[in-house]
Amino acid sequence: MTDRTVAVLAGGLSHERDVSLRSGRRLSSSLRDTGLYVEEWDVDAKLISRINSSRPDAVVIALHGGAGENGAVQSVLEILRVPYVGADPRACRRAWDKPTAKDELARAGLSTPEWITLPHATFRDLGAQDVLDALVARLGLPLILKPPQGGSALGLHLVREVAELPGAVVGCLAYGDSVLAESFVEGVEVAVTVLDGPDGPRALPAVEIDATSGFYDYTARYTAGLATFHAPARLDSAAAAAVADLAVSAHRILGLRDVSRTDVVVTPDGVAQFLEVNVAPGLTETSLLPMAIESTGAHLGTIYAALIERAIARGPGTLSRN
Ligand SMILES: Nc1ncnc2c1ncn2[C@@H]1O[C@H](COP(=O)(O)OP(=O)(O)OP(=O)(O)O)[C@@H](O)[C@H]1O
Ligand SMILES: [Mg+2]
Repeated sequence: MTDRTVAVLAGGLSHERDVSLRSGRRLSSSLRDTGLYVEEWDVDAKLISRINSSRPDAVVIALHGGAGENGAVQSVLEILRVPYVGADPRACRRAWDKPTAKDELARAGLSTPEWITLPHATFRDLGAQDVLDALVARLGLPLILKPPQGGSALGLHLVREVAELPGAVVGCLAYGDSVLAESFVEGVEVAVTVLDGPDGPRALPAVEIDATSGFYDYTARYTAGLATFHAPARLDSAAAAAVADLAVSAHRILGLRDVSRTDVVVTPDGVAQFLEVNVAPGLTETSLLPMAIESTGAHLGTIYAALIERAIARGPGTLSRN
């Protein structure tokens, strides 16, 4: 038994609150199995006073889709000098904003579907129809429209025909003030977990997602049985190496830390295309990161307990990088 006290932050006010609560519950129970003393905190306006009165040895952020992924909670933890698992605020912001992450990785020579980001005002000022016509003329169909920030495929639309575009734009704008339009890439979808260790970042075996509806949307994500997973993915050795390389490169280039999960599509010609990277990946019963860990015979709690030790050894962050 250790005398470490760990606070797992979950819940919060994002659209992904329910998923986060499930992640927090599963992580907490796995950490308790390792002998840690774990408190589960739903994040609300009392967070700072709670941290100041409890002073946990470390915090693990299991918040999805908002303050836990965009660097906001990480900044608060840095101000309060509390060690935490995961990337610093600046790296979180880069990963959180999908166009920023895609741009940095494309500049570094990695493959990512062609994209364009369109603010709400563009549709309003230039006429939605003209903008949509130009978009289709440039990127073609099918297209994926998604909010530039966020997760769990909320607000995401697959557009196969021009007639579906206006509805997709409106649906997307419900989650933010701009639309990220991407070429739809056909292929095998995998998620690759990267863990930092003594020898630097290493990729765990990719987990393959085979959505029965053909699309890994919100329902397919969190309803058992609507998607089949293969861990490790059914990739040949060249493709398996390509997705591992892509995920480790994304982790390094964006300056991520401890843990990340990169979503990738492998096209029929074997190219690994970067979709996005998550700094606080889902940890629910149907989530991909725990499947990757279990496929290696390891235990979720043991892996996170090691990340907690890294965070404590690193100590509280410095404000200079924020
Ligand atoms: N350009 C694309 N081509 C093909 N499929 C895509 C593309 N973009 C997204 N998808 C599909 O939509 C899903 C969700 O997209 P993405 O990973 O960008 O969103 P998310 O909401 O951030 O997801 P997460 O829950 O992983 O954080 C992907 O898992 C994939 O199935
Ligand atoms: Mg994703």
